[in-house]
Amino acid sequence: MSLVKLQDIGKDYQTGDNIISPLIDLNLEINDNDRLIIYGKSGSGKTTLLNILSTLEIPSNGSMIFADKLVDSLSDKELSNLRLNDIGVVFQSHHLLEEFSLHENIILPGSITHNLDKDFANFLIEKLKISNRKDHLPDQLSGGERQRCAIARALINRPKLLVMDEPTGDLDRNTSDEVMELIDDIFNEIDISVVIATHDENLKFKPNSKYLLEQGKLNLIQG
Ligand SMILES: Nc1ncnc2c1ncn2[C@@H]1O[C@H](COP(=O)(O)OP(=O)(O)OP(=O)(O)O)[C@@H](O)[C@H]1O
Ligand SMILES: [Mg+2]
Repeated sequence: MSLVKLQDIGKDYQTGDNIISPLIDLNLEINDNDRLIIYGKSGSGKTTLLNILSTLEIPSNGSMIFADKLVDSLSDKELSNLRLNDIGVVFQSHHLLEEFSLHENIILPGSITHNLDKDFANFLIEKLKISNRKDHLPDQLSGGERQRCAIARALINRPKLLVMDEPTGDLDRNTSDEVMELIDDIFNEIDISVVIATHDENLKFKPNSKYLLEQGKLNLIQG
């Protein structure tokens, strides 16, 4: 089943007299339980594309369909429900709330929607091996622990789509492999489509399709 369709997506940024168009007539289809990797050199538009997929940025042209709904046609309320319930995001920088503990950061999206599944929160925390760090503040955590916290937070509302932007960008090889192994274990137990943007050609993750983002378009390189 198709979960997301991007049709002829373009994105233009204007700064002064200068227009940058990182995405040009880009098309992508994401099916249920897909595992996608998007490579591309720095500045190629990976973050822009992921921000559009997570509905945080609005494309300049084209349309996005999520679960058979045209995103453009959603009301503000429907859009914020979509973001909270159906899309999980792990940002290039973690964006943890520094004054809240690891546990509070993770359960926050579930508390907002008043449907926090405590057992699922504990499942994620156990699986990600951070149960002994629950009460730590983000600045008391290592990079790998912060990243695992950001991943648990993105998954807490059981989204249909998880978007991860350079999930291991700040981590050393061993920590990166360890984090990816832990989340792979979780992905095997839940229904979710995953899109990862990365520079890392050795990322420990088995996609069913790999794309290269180049000159505004996605080229399928495997899958
Ligand atoms: N808000 C903005 N205003 C103007 N230009 C922007 C804006 N956001 C991104 N850009 C430009 O769009 C292009 C794509 O940026 P983007 O962040 O999507 O690249 P990226 O592939 O994620 O790069 P990296 O691998 O370094 O994270 C870049 O040239 C960037 O300077
Ligand atoms: Mg980026």
